[in-house]
Amino acid sequence: MVGVLFVCLGNICRSPMAEGVFRQTLREHGLQDRIQVDSAGIGNWHLGKPAHKGTLKVLKEHNIPHHGRSRQISTQDFEHFHYLLAMDKQNHADLKQFNISPHKVQLFLDAAYKRGLTPLQEVPDPYYDGRFDAVFDLIKLGCMALLDEIREEQQL
Ligand code: 4NP
Repeated sequence: MVGVLFVCLGNICRSPMAEGVFRQTLREHGLQDRIQVDSAGIGNWHLGKPAHKGTLKVLKEHNIPHHGRSRQISTQDFEHFHYLLAMDKQNHADLKQFNISPHKVQLFLDAAYKRGLTPLQEVPDPYYDGRFDAVFDLIKLGCMALLDEIREEQQL
Protein backbone atom coordinates (compact mmCIF):
# COMPACT_ATOMS: atom_id res chain seq x y z
CA MET A 1 0.00 0.00 0.00
CA VAL A 2 1.40 3.39 -1.03
CA GLY A 3 0.65 6.24 1.41
CA VAL A 4 -0.01 9.79 0.22
CA LEU A 5 -0.39 12.71 2.64
CA PHE A 6 -1.44 16.19 1.51
CA VAL A 7 -0.20 19.00 3.72
CA CYS A 8 -1.22 22.66 4.00
CA LEU A 9 -1.19 25.22 6.79
CA GLY A 10 -4.56 24.78 8.49
CA ASN A 11 -5.80 21.44 7.04
CA ILE A 12 -9.20 23.00 6.36
CA CYS A 13 -8.96 24.44 2.80
CA ARG A 14 -6.37 23.10 0.34
CA SER A 15 -5.18 19.73 1.71
CA PRO A 16 -8.68 18.37 2.49
CA MET A 17 -9.73 19.43 -1.02
CA ALA A 18 -6.74 17.57 -2.50
CA GLU A 19 -7.51 14.55 -0.29
CA GLY A 20 -11.10 14.39 -1.59
CA VAL A 21 -10.15 14.97 -5.22
CA PHE A 22 -7.27 12.47 -5.17
CA ARG A 23 -9.43 9.80 -3.54
CA GLN A 24 -12.02 10.35 -6.26
CA THR A 25 -9.29 10.12 -8.94
CA LEU A 26 -8.16 6.80 -7.43
CA ARG A 27 -11.71 5.43 -7.49
CA GLU A 28 -11.99 6.41 -11.16
CA HIS A 29 -8.85 4.38 -11.87
CA GLY A 30 -9.73 1.44 -9.59
CA LEU A 31 -6.69 2.16 -7.42
CA GLN A 32 -8.44 2.98 -4.13
CA ASP A 33 -7.16 -0.24 -2.54
CA ARG A 34 -3.56 0.36 -3.60
CA ILE A 35 -3.03 3.94 -2.43
CA GLN A 36 -3.99 5.31 0.98
CA VAL A 37 -4.79 9.04 1.21
CA ASP A 38 -4.95 11.49 4.11
CA SER A 39 -4.27 15.17 4.85
CA ALA A 40 -2.80 17.17 7.71
CA GLY A 41 -1.89 20.73 8.66
CA ILE A 42 1.33 22.36 9.78
CA GLY A 43 -0.64 24.33 12.40
CA ASN A 44 -3.17 23.19 14.97
CA TRP A 45 -5.61 26.13 15.07
CA HIS A 46 -8.49 24.15 13.59
CA LEU A 47 -7.91 20.81 15.31
CA GLY A 48 -10.95 18.51 15.05
CA LYS A 49 -12.90 20.92 12.86
CA PRO A 50 -14.46 19.93 9.52
CA ALA A 51 -13.10 21.41 6.29
CA HIS A 52 -13.86 25.06 5.44
CA LYS A 53 -17.35 25.58 4.03
CA GLY A 54 -15.84 26.81 0.75
CA THR A 55 -13.96 23.51 0.35
CA LEU A 56 -17.02 21.46 1.30
CA LYS A 57 -19.18 23.42 -1.16
CA VAL A 58 -16.90 22.94 -4.15
CA LEU A 59 -16.40 19.23 -3.35
CA LYS A 60 -20.15 18.76 -3.06
CA GLU A 61 -20.70 20.53 -6.40
CA HIS A 62 -18.46 17.88 -7.96
CA ASN A 63 -20.11 15.00 -6.05
CA ILE A 64 -16.96 14.30 -4.09
CA PRO A 65 -17.57 13.09 -0.52
CA HIS A 66 -15.38 14.35 2.29
CA HIS A 67 -15.75 13.74 6.04
CA GLY A 68 -12.28 14.49 7.39
CA ARG A 69 -11.46 16.61 10.42
CA SER A 70 -8.47 18.88 10.77
CA ARG A 71 -5.39 17.37 12.36
CA GLN A 72 -1.79 18.43 12.78
CA ILE A 73 1.11 16.61 11.12
CA SER A 74 3.24 14.46 13.43
CA THR A 75 6.55 12.63 13.20
CA GLN A 76 4.66 9.33 12.74
CA ASP A 77 3.34 10.65 9.44
CA PHE A 78 6.90 10.67 8.13
CA GLU A 79 7.18 6.97 8.97
CA HIS A 80 3.80 5.99 7.61
CA PHE A 81 3.37 7.94 4.35
CA HIS A 82 5.58 7.60 1.27
CA TYR A 83 4.62 10.90 -0.37
CA LEU A 84 4.26 14.09 1.65
CA LEU A 85 2.89 16.77 -0.65
CA ALA A 86 3.12 20.40 0.40
CA MET A 87 0.67 22.92 -1.01
CA ASP A 88 3.12 25.84 -0.94
CA LYS A 89 6.80 26.56 -0.44
CA GLN A 90 6.34 27.58 3.18
CA ASN A 91 4.58 24.27 3.96
CA HIS A 92 7.44 22.50 2.16
CA ALA A 93 10.06 24.36 4.21
CA ASP A 94 8.14 23.54 7.40
CA LEU A 95 8.09 19.82 6.48
CA LYS A 96 11.83 19.90 5.80
CA GLN A 97 12.32 21.33 9.30
CA PHE A 98 11.31 17.94 10.71
CA ASN A 99 14.57 16.72 9.22
CA ILE A 100 13.24 13.22 8.57
CA SER A 101 13.92 12.29 4.98
CA PRO A 102 13.53 8.65 4.02
CA HIS A 103 10.38 9.50 2.08
CA LYS A 104 9.46 11.87 -0.66
CA VAL A 105 8.66 15.40 0.46
CA GLN A 106 7.77 17.61 -2.49
CA LEU A 107 5.47 20.37 -3.65
CA PHE A 108 2.07 18.99 -4.63
CA LEU A 109 2.21 20.81 -7.99
CA ASP A 110 5.70 19.52 -8.89
CA ALA A 111 4.29 16.67 -11.00
CA ALA A 112 1.93 19.00 -12.94
CA TYR A 113 4.60 21.70 -13.26
CA LYS A 114 7.19 19.23 -14.60
CA ARG A 115 4.68 18.00 -17.16
CA GLY A 116 4.05 21.59 -18.34
CA LEU A 117 0.40 21.48 -17.20
CA THR A 118 0.64 24.62 -15.05
CA PRO A 119 3.10 27.51 -14.62
CA LEU A 120 2.25 27.52 -10.90
CA GLN A 121 4.40 25.78 -8.29
CA GLU A 122 2.18 26.63 -5.35
CA VAL A 123 -1.55 26.30 -4.65
CA PRO A 124 -2.86 29.76 -3.65
CA ASP A 125 -4.65 29.76 -0.30
CA PRO A 126 -8.41 30.33 -0.77
CA TYR A 127 -8.69 31.01 2.97
CA TYR A 128 -7.58 34.55 2.16
CA ASP A 129 -9.26 35.31 -1.19
CA GLY A 130 -12.22 32.88 -1.33
CA ARG A 131 -11.29 31.54 -4.77
CA PHE A 132 -12.22 27.94 -4.00
CA ASP A 133 -13.38 27.19 -7.58
CA ALA A 134 -10.06 28.21 -9.14
CA VAL A 135 -8.18 26.21 -6.52
CA PHE A 136 -10.35 23.17 -7.25
CA ASP A 137 -9.40 23.30 -10.97
CA LEU A 138 -5.73 23.54 -10.09
CA ILE A 139 -5.96 20.70 -7.56
CA LYS A 140 -7.76 18.51 -10.07
CA LEU A 141 -4.97 18.99 -12.56
CA GLY A 142 -2.34 18.44 -9.87
CA CYS A 143 -4.00 15.18 -8.79
CA MET A 144 -4.05 13.76 -12.32
CA ALA A 145 -0.34 14.52 -12.79
CA LEU A 146 0.48 13.19 -9.31
CA LEU A 147 -1.27 9.90 -10.04
CA ASP A 148 0.69 9.58 -13.30
CA GLU A 149 3.92 10.13 -11.38
CA ILE A 150 3.07 7.66 -8.60
CA ARG A 151 1.97 5.03 -11.10
CA GLU A 152 5.29 5.38 -12.94
CA GLU A 153 7.34 5.25 -9.77
CA GLN A 154 5.41 2.48 -8.03
CA GLN A 155 4.55 0.46 -11.16
CA LEU A 156 0.83 0.58 -10.45
P1 4NP B 1 -5.27 25.96 4.41
O1 4NP B 1 -5.81 27.44 4.64
O2 4NP B 1 -3.83 25.95 4.85
O3 4NP B 1 -5.41 25.73 2.94
O4 4NP B 1 -6.16 25.04 5.25
C1 4NP B 1 -5.72 28.11 5.87
C2 4NP B 1 -6.63 27.84 6.85
C3 4NP B 1 -6.56 28.52 8.05
C4 4NP B 1 -5.57 29.46 8.26
C5 4NP B 1 -4.65 29.74 7.26
C6 4NP B 1 -4.73 29.06 6.08
N1 4NP B 1 -5.52 30.18 9.48
O5 4NP B 1 -4.67 31.09 9.60
O6 4NP B 1 -6.30 29.90 10.39
